[in-house]
Amino acid sequence: MPELGTSGSAGGPGWATTQVYPTERLGLLVDRETEARDSRRLALRLKAAKLRQEASVEDIDFRTPRGLDRSVIMSLAQAGWVTAHHNLLVTGPTGAGKSFIGCALAHAAIRRGHTALYIRTPRLLADLALSRGDGRYVRRLAHLAKIGVLVLDDFLLTPPSIIEAKDLLEVIDDRSQVRSTLVISQLPVEAWHPALTAGDPTLADAILDRLVHDAHRLALKGSSMRRRQPPPEESSVA
Ligand SMILES: Nc1ncnc2c1ncn2[C@@H]1O[C@H](COP(=O)(O)OP(=O)(O)O)[C@@H](O)[C@H]1O
Ligand SMILES: [Mg+2]
Repeated sequence: MPELGTSGSAGGPGWATTQVYPTERLGLLVDRETEARDSRRLALRLKAAKLRQEASVEDIDFRTPRGLDRSVIMSLAQAGWVTAHHNLLVTGPTGAGKSFIGCALAHAAIRRGHTALYIRTPRLLADLALSRGDGRYVRRLAHLAKIGVLVLDDFLLTPPSIIEAKDLLEVIDDRSQVRSTLVISQLPVEAWHPALTAGDPTLADAILDRLVHDAHRLALKGSSMRRRQPPPEESSVA
């Protein structure tokens, strides 16, 4: 007598391949849940970073000659410099696209899981001066120290006072070799020391030692991206 329940049963060939086992279904749900959580976290990191421009590396214009090397930018966009706690110094004339590139690279680092904060240096120094008065100074410094990529735009736009230079040193010393700082300045790096020395040469040494050490540099050239106009149609007539 043939054994009952063996032929044509649900355990036959072909059946198992189309079946989603409960454990697999759970796996899919977990994947979806993880994806949703990751995108929520990404959105939160982007919001917290307060990037000034909606810039991404894909939007960087390499056609305008500005001394920008595509392969260097693409490699910086991998954010290895952030993982290595290196700094990045972006310099160039007004309108060259420094803030745009700084924000685009910070955006790239955020996409790779890092936190960031964009702030103009004059604003940072004003905030720190205020926070000293109302007892938030230490908390503010502790918050800044935790940020993966601190973007300091308009660095040395005006020469800092001794107190401001001391505040800068506090911020930068906390980050030295443990976090990345992306400094954006109109002044070439060579002119930073004289600009800081107006405060105190020892402070200037201390700040620049920490900033310039282990730093990648992007020196932009060329005319302002703000003034870019399409070429006049009859430009050949003259
Ligand atoms: N690569 C780029 N692609 C598109 N627009 C750009 C690019 N770089 C700069 N811009 C635009 O040009 C203007 C000046 O750039 P910005 O980054 O503010 O210059 P900087 O900080 O050097 O003064 C901004 O309006 C910016 O959005
Ligand atoms: Mg700018």
